[in-house]
Amino acid sequence: MNKNLRKAIIAGNWKMNKTRPEAKALLEAIKPLVANADGKIEVVACVPFTNLETALAVTEGSNVKIGAENVHFEKSGAFTGEISADMLTELGVEYVVIGHSERRQYFGETDETVNKRTLAALNAGLKPIVCVGELKWERVCGITEEVVGKQVKLDLYDVTAEQMKNVVIAYEPVWAIGTGLTATPDQAEEVCAFIRATLAKMFDQATADAVTIQYGGSMNAKNAAELLAKPNIDGGLIGGASLKAEDFNVIVQAAVNG
Ligand code: 13P
Repeated sequence: MNKNLRKAIIAGNWKMNKTRPEAKALLEAIKPLVANADGKIEVVACVPFTNLETALAVTEGSNVKIGAENVHFEKSGAFTGEISADMLTELGVEYVVIGHSERRQYFGETDETVNKRTLAALNAGLKPIVCVGELKWERVCGITEEVVGKQVKLDLYDVTAEQMKNVVIAYEPVWAIGTGLTATPDQAEEVCAFIRATLAKMFDQATADAVTIQYGGSMNAKNAAELLAKPNIDGGLIGGASLKAEDFNVIVQAAVNG
């Protein structure tokens, strides 16, 4: 297994944080700090819909890419409050987080809708960051692999090996999100390796080896280097620590040096 076969991606998931002026200030602080990552790793900020246009303007010409935090699966129509993939690509958005556990937990997202959103994003030319992960009690009951394997298979149903070149998977154990409880590097590696083995069965080994698999869940400036050193952890999806330019940069530098 060769880590050089895939791109390391450090992505911030800002969640429901930052007004436009705050978003501008944060990205202006991040930009110069992470400029040295250009050509080495991918740096992404996934921001609320209201911040997308500002974020794209502030990061234009820099190595910071912009993502959205969700996308609807229909092309257009009577879906009040929703945003389509075409609306995002027209703005210049490159990435989109899909199936985050907060969407699954609070907004009724299912593997079926995650799959539909993933296909819609890919068909529009977006790069989906598909989130999977087990609940605490599922881990306690010893069914982490069943849960994550099922999510990967259902969420990527009908996705082709060719399209997998644009798919990022984020392994985010739900019990580690926003809790300060990080999975140990060994726990995170074990599941990321399992996800890759599942992809190899679904597609083929070369396709699986080329997929960027991120870890997310209380990744921070202190624990990032150890997590990113693992052979199957190719990046991070960062919540809280992505809201502070210095902390986010420490994680980016860990990936650059890793
Ligand atoms: P925290 O880094 O705040 O735990 O959030 C992780 C996450 O949900 C990223 O999508």
